[in-house]
Amino acid sequence: MREVDVLIIGSGAAGLTLALNLPPRTRICILSKSTPDNGSTWYAQGGIAAVLDNEDSIESHIDDTLVAGSALSKPDAVEHTVAGGREGIDWLIEQGVPFTREEDHYHLTQEGGHSHRRIIHANDATGEAVGETLIQRVQAAANIELCEHHIAIDLITRSKLRLGNNRCVGAYVLNAHTGHVEVIKAQQVVLATGGASKTYLYTSNPDGATGDGIAMAWRAGCRVANLEFNQFHPTCLFHPKAKSFLISEAVRGEGGILRLPDGTRFMPNFDERAELAPRDIVARTIDHEMKRLGLEYVYLDISHRPAEFIKAHFPTIYERCLSYGIDMTREPIPVVPAAHYTCGGVMTDLAGRTDLPGLYAIGETAYTGLHGANRLASNSLLECVVYGRSAALAIADALQETLPPLPQVPAWDESQVTDSDEDVIIAHNWEELRRFMWDYVGIVRTNKRLQRAQHRVDLLQQEITEYYSNYKVSRDLIELRNLATVAELIIRSALLRKESRGLHYTLDYPETGPELQDTILAPINYPWPEASR
Ligand code: FAD
Ligand code: SIN
Repeated sequence: MREVDVLIIGSGAAGLTLALNLPPRTRICILSKSTPDNGSTWYAQGGIAAVLDNEDSIESHIDDTLVAGSALSKPDAVEHTVAGGREGIDWLIEQGVPFTREEDHYHLTQEGGHSHRRIIHANDATGEAVGETLIQRVQAAANIELCEHHIAIDLITRSKLRLGNNRCVGAYVLNAHTGHVEVIKAQQVVLATGGASKTYLYTSNPDGATGDGIAMAWRAGCRVANLEFNQFHPTCLFHPKAKSFLISEAVRGEGGILRLPDGTRFMPNFDERAELAPRDIVARTIDHEMKRLGLEYVYLDISHRPAEFIKAHFPTIYERCLSYGIDMTREPIPVVPAAHYTCGGVMTDLAGRTDLPGLYAIGETAYTGLHGANRLASNSLLECVVYGRSAALAIADALQETLPPLPQVPAWDESQVTDSDEDVIIAHNWEELRRFMWDYVGIVRTNKRLQRAQHRVDLLQQEITEYYSNYKVSRDLIELRNLATVAELIIRSALLRKESRGLHYTLDYPETGPELQDTILAPINYPWPEASR
């Protein structure tokens, strides 16, 4: 049994920023499902949006965010994030992130929905540059312990221990090295577990994006919001061997054109912003053209720009495409949309506080109100850094308060379970869930498809509950259980929204409604009785 001041579940941009902004005497433990480079952070390409140019303004970035979010973003969250942009970037530069320079200033690129060049980046591998820099800082910090291959299973709350004054006091964690479940107790617990795009068959996200934080918070009694808004990135590489490799929006920002197989440019027929319209519009248009013409993919073409420019700005994408026999300096790249980002999540305030005292959520796992019905490109890493920093301030304050001593926590009970002899079931259930989510809860929805998905997820959940009760936990089983929970929450949220807005498009209600409403789901045990607060 371990005890720390702050347990951070997740080692992406959000979790690492938080850890490095806490007072140096804080005893911190950071968990990572495998190695830290497994989160979406390491995969981020385009960059981080922030107002860094004199010609640009905070108001303009706020407006662009609100427009992309189809008016559903919360103004206070947008202002908080955008206003914190410059300080957040300055802090990253202080940590040593090698952003791309051009002469005497940082190069800023352009992405869809932004009315200025405001994306600071490290070539086309910004996330890796941020992640590597921050992880080195964390590894050098004596007060921070990084536990790789440690998978949080569930949060421990006083209410689950049948104690009053409900708050989060730690987590049960599977140590994948030993196969044992450990208890980690903490005064403050932070969910920084990333998104849930693995609920879909085709995704730009790495394996760990299974919505664990959302599912754990839900089981612990927290509300979640706006989970119907799944962002599909318009341009992932289409190639049998490429596991949904992303072709950054910055390629369109630097002049890339979307074309049909006969070379026709189609985006201007659908939106005056053409290739630089917000992502929901571009992804939906590609989906529409693929269905209309029976295509497997469309093309993204930047071959009209000089080869040297392409290689200098997009070295990673150029090399990866070349490894599949596609020379993007001479020919168009075949692309398809894929699930990319979870706009909804665990409800928090501006400091990452959730409904449950002692529990915070930051980064992609949180719903702060920033993204509304659709995230503006490159606002995600910004949110990770800004909220990582503001949550650190709130946690530092909370640690000054006199809190009750952490309670006794029973060890994980494995007496009733056996080793699974049917791992194949887990693999099949994973596949089935991700396929029906793609087919029925994808870019274009209908009530009928959503109801079908709901029926299937109900059946799957029954099987998973039985399996979970009888067999020892494994990473695959933990993730499957969480995926099914989040899929159910996504479907329920989608069924509740009787309009099309941003990323949620349904043929049954194709118009955007007059009312601005979040889809807030509360667990049956919420609100907790007064006595347990
Ligand atoms: P992540 O970086 O996903 O990290 C999650 C961490 O949580 C991981 O360490 C994982 O191991 C851990 N974890 C999860 N569950 C558990 C558990 N149960 N127990 C223990 N640990 C757990 N955004 C931008 O702003 N700009 C971009 O250019 C950009 N490009 C992108 C390109 C790609 C291909 C992808 C996939 C995303 C991109 N995004 C971009 C989105 C952005 O990268 C992510 O939203 C952001 O990095 C999320 O950071 P995070 O810290 O919240 O989570
Ligand atoms: C990209 O580079 O296209 C990803 C940017 C983002 O997801 O914000």
